[in-house]
Amino acid sequence: MKSMFPMLAVVAVLAGCASPPADLRDRAPAQPEAASGYQAKPGWRTQRFSVAAANPLATDAGYQVLKAGGSAVDAAIAVQMVLTLVEPQSSGIGGGAFLLLFDGRQVQAYDGRETAPAGATEQLFLRADGKPMAFIDAVVGGRSVGTPGTVGMLELAHQRHGKLPWRQLFAPAISLAEQGFNVSSRLHTLLASDAHLKKDPVAASYFYAADGKPHPVGHLLRNPELAHVLRLIAAHGAKGLMQGEVAQAMAAKVQGHASNPGLLSLADLAAYQPKQREALCHHWRAAAKDYRVCGFPPPSSGAIAIGQILGTLEHTPAATLALEQGLPSAPWLHLYTEAARLAFADRAQYVADPDFVAAPGGNWANLLDPGYLGQRARLIGTTSMKSGQSGTPGAMTTAYAAMPEQVEYGTSHISIVDASGQALAMTTTIEAGFGSRLMVNTGAGRSGGFLLNNELTDFSLAPRDANGTPIANRVQAGKRPRSSMSPTLVFEQPSGQLVMSAGSPGGALIIHFTAKALYGTLQWQLNAQQAINLPNFGSLNGPTLLEEKRFPGATIEALKARGHELREGGGGGARPVRRTRVAAHPKDANRLRRGGGGGSDGGLFAGNRCPG
Ligand code: GLY
Repeated sequence: MKSMFPMLAVVAVLAGCASPPADLRDRAPAQPEAASGYQAKPGWRTQRFSVAAANPLATDAGYQVLKAGGSAVDAAIAVQMVLTLVEPQSSGIGGGAFLLLFDGRQVQAYDGRETAPAGATEQLFLRADGKPMAFIDAVVGGRSVGTPGTVGMLELAHQRHGKLPWRQLFAPAISLAEQGFNVSSRLHTLLASDAHLKKDPVAASYFYAADGKPHPVGHLLRNPELAHVLRLIAAHGAKGLMQGEVAQAMAAKVQGHASNPGLLSLADLAAYQPKQREALCHHWRAAAKDYRVCGFPPPSSGAIAIGQILGTLEHTPAATLALEQGLPSAPWLHLYTEAARLAFADRAQYVADPDFVAAPGGNWANLLDPGYLGQRARLIGTTSMKSGQSGTPGAMTTAYAAMPEQVEYGTSHISIVDASGQALAMTTTIEAGFGSRLMVNTGAGRSGGFLLNNELTDFSLAPRDANGTPIANRVQAGKRPRSSMSPTLVFEQPSGQLVMSAGSPGGALIIHFTAKALYGTLQWQLNAQQAINLPNFGSLNGPTLLEEKRFPGATIEALKARGHELREGGGGGARPVRRTRVAAHPKDANRLRRGGGGGSDGGLFAGNRCPG
């Protein structure tokens, strides 16, 4: 599910808009990464444990850890280290992540989001004329690089939930980095379509041949520099990355960029702290059953937006609208996308790093209050509102200006259930495909390295609106940018039994991809693979977005008749890659099959291995 629509030109964002600027509203959303083909996946069923990740080599690393008696967190560490090597475009040790863990009793939320350097100000992405930089100009180079948090977060989670020794979890990735892995079709396609990565000399000599062409599919690619860095982390923990020679290489790379230097310093790296937060959970009734849906709180907007969409739909006739010939109907799509418009309006108004911005009424749960969502649902009529306005949850009017919708990219998702019943949903990212396009190498002559994130462009590039009112999600020193990442754990009520671990890559569309998986499985009673295979749909509070050539003409005409402005996308008729991942509780395996990994070029919820 990397790409629902074709890759589009980047949109510059202007300050002063309460809803998406016209040029963004007039386009389908830019996408996380280019589509690279579709592979049908049957879905997998397992008995004791499962791991679903974006690449079979990463999945296998997690499988080996689980088989050896490791915990879900142990397995996630092994998976993440291999993803750094084999899916470098999406996540890695140079990025950030959110990890949601059910330890058998409660849900815990670990925040490894990147932070803005101590030297950053709200002017970071403003040009000399005071206008925001073009998005791609902001992304490429050192300016967009936030202090990486994934390794620090995994270290904290391992201290609390690890079973196997930390060092052991790095062995699969180190071995693959030294012996080499075969370049996947997806990695090759993305390398071929990227115009910026080869400007970085380290990345150019690692990913591309001497003639400037990306290494072909199947090429054996070795990364001895990454093996060296992973050995340091294995031996010294997060300090192996955030201090010493690797930290020096990161800071030098960011600060030394010739045309777009950044601020990341040795002090920022040494000071990084992962955080434990309280998971955000809400009640959801689907198909006459009660569920507790838990997700990640701010700085992610994912759990709030998904909870608002599902909760708002509960106040509409949506639940009475079954699939028609296996597809969401026009009346249902109308209700869903209207609920989404309202949710995205609230996200633009309120959601930002909670250490800098107060929740409306002092509690983020106010945004999920059934009474509030009932009021919001009453704004949905028979014709489209086209663009929703934010509400006033918790009897508080905000002091902030709404953030214009801005492109988001990239990301990977890992879902794991271990043999003891612990479950994990971890969404992990370096933001855009290949992040900031800066590859770190400590300079000892080893080839390769790892990519740095461009997560700071998840802040609003424009810090204030035209009246000078600040935007909640503006750049501030030490702040974490707002995210769409939506790691989700679902529990049956009142038993409390775990039903599902789910999540997705996809920029802002993560929210819709994950909501589709939840609605498809629990309301429409599809198995996980069928739910993921449903065509994609959504709205970012602009046009109604439909996956190209997947909906009948009658549905499209019916939506137009309700006033929807439609945008279809899908990559030249090719069905897009799907990468949403779902892992279900073993006891529920008959209904929600559990995935074993993802083909490197396209699977979601699936792979080439059926563990457990
Ligand atoms: N950069 C993708 C996200 O955080 O949602």
